[in-house]
Amino acid sequence: MRVEEILSGPSIFRDRNVLSPHFIPDTLLHRDREIESIVRILAPSSKRMKPKSIFIYGKTGTGKTSTVKHIMKFSDQLCAIFAYVNCRIYNSKYKVLQKVGKTFIGELDKTGFGLSHIYERLVAFAAGKQIIIILDEIDMVKDVDDLLYMLGRSNDEIIDGGITIIGISNSLSFKERLDARSKSSLYEDEMVFAPYSASQIHDILKERSKIGFEPDVVQESALNLIAAISAQTSGDARYALRLLIRAGEVADSKRLKTVTDREVETARMNVEDDVIIEAVSTLPEHQQILLLGLATLTTGGSSYAKLGGGGEGAGAANVDGIEPFFMSGELYEQYAKTCNALGRQKRSARWYREYLTDLEMLGLISMVETSTGIRGR
Ligand SMILES: Nc1ncnc2c1ncn2[C@@H]1O[C@H](COP(=O)(O)OP(=O)(O)O)[C@@H](O)[C@H]1O
Ligand SMILES: [Mg+2]
Repeated sequence: MRVEEILSGPSIFRDRNVLSPHFIPDTLLHRDREIESIVRILAPSSKRMKPKSIFIYGKTGTGKTSTVKHIMKFSDQLCAIFAYVNCRIYNSKYKVLQKVGKTFIGELDKTGFGLSHIYERLVAFAAGKQIIIILDEIDMVKDVDDLLYMLGRSNDEIIDGGITIIGISNSLSFKERLDARSKSSLYEDEMVFAPYSASQIHDILKERSKIGFEPDVVQESALNLIAAISAQTSGDARYALRLLIRAGEVADSKRLKTVTDREVETARMNVEDDVIIEAVSTLPEHQQILLLGLATLTTGGSSYAKLGGGGEGAGAANVDGIEPFFMSGELYEQYAKTCNALGRQKRSARWYREYLTDLEMLGLISMVETSTGIRGR
């Protein structure tokens, strides 16, 4: 197909942007209860009193970011001013403070100001105001205890005003990593965002399809299928939207007028590849090397036999569709070899264990503790 043809060809999309995971819809479905709770917690600011801090936890794609961005629209009614910080990008105390500083004080946009200068300007600016700082993906901040301590302490210095934190994280274990003091200052109130059910995802997709696609393009059964797949795997609206947009692309590339179950099935495979590619490409180098080692074993076969006999699929045998698995020591040897071949210094066995745990948490491998066999996906 020629470029001109692709560009000028008919499309079933009306507006692709609204299907992107970065798009914040005007109406948030099925989050009324959460919105109400958060507004209630923040309500004291409308009476010039400092609200309690809130920690929001929930798996990815449960609408945490969309919900707080929605709440930012009520800043007038709340008599509060908001600063939104994506801690994936601003991942240190200094970067967060700089981002907050320049949100309110234009002059701080220039780089080179010291931490204490920014802090003092912020404290002065906050006088007589209720400021709400949203720290999205707060677990990404390296020196998060210092940051929370500093922001907490600022409240003793601000005259007739205050700084309130809303922390958001996908990680439940984040809490355990905090100092007792930061914990008590961040967790004055807590909220959990539950994964969406299939019918909730269906409604979200339906709303979005109306503005993202031409009328009657996406078949009801296709929506139901995406909703069922997404609810079953994660309850993640972002994944569901990604699947929808990919299904639309599949239909477009085949010049179809509708999106049916078949396009969803095709898209599902693409999306799974996307998710894995994204996960692997952002891993630290040694975890990538470890995965490469595991892939080499998986394609090349194991030289070990499974100890103790028993189960089918022992060693690297891929019997009857059972995935191969490998002994931990064998994989470490392969990892060391791969490091060598790439001219990298191998890390110790202790690190290796940590990498395995991280990879398992990301769903890239699974480990069978009893036999210390490791299975690649
Ligand atoms: N309740 C909802 N109604 C409409 N769209 C939603 C809803 N929840 C999530 N989304 C959409 O799903 C995607 C991911 O949501 P997001 O708020 O970023 O989740 P999280 O921050 O919990 O990972 C976004 O595109 C958002 O527009
Ligand atoms: Mg988010």
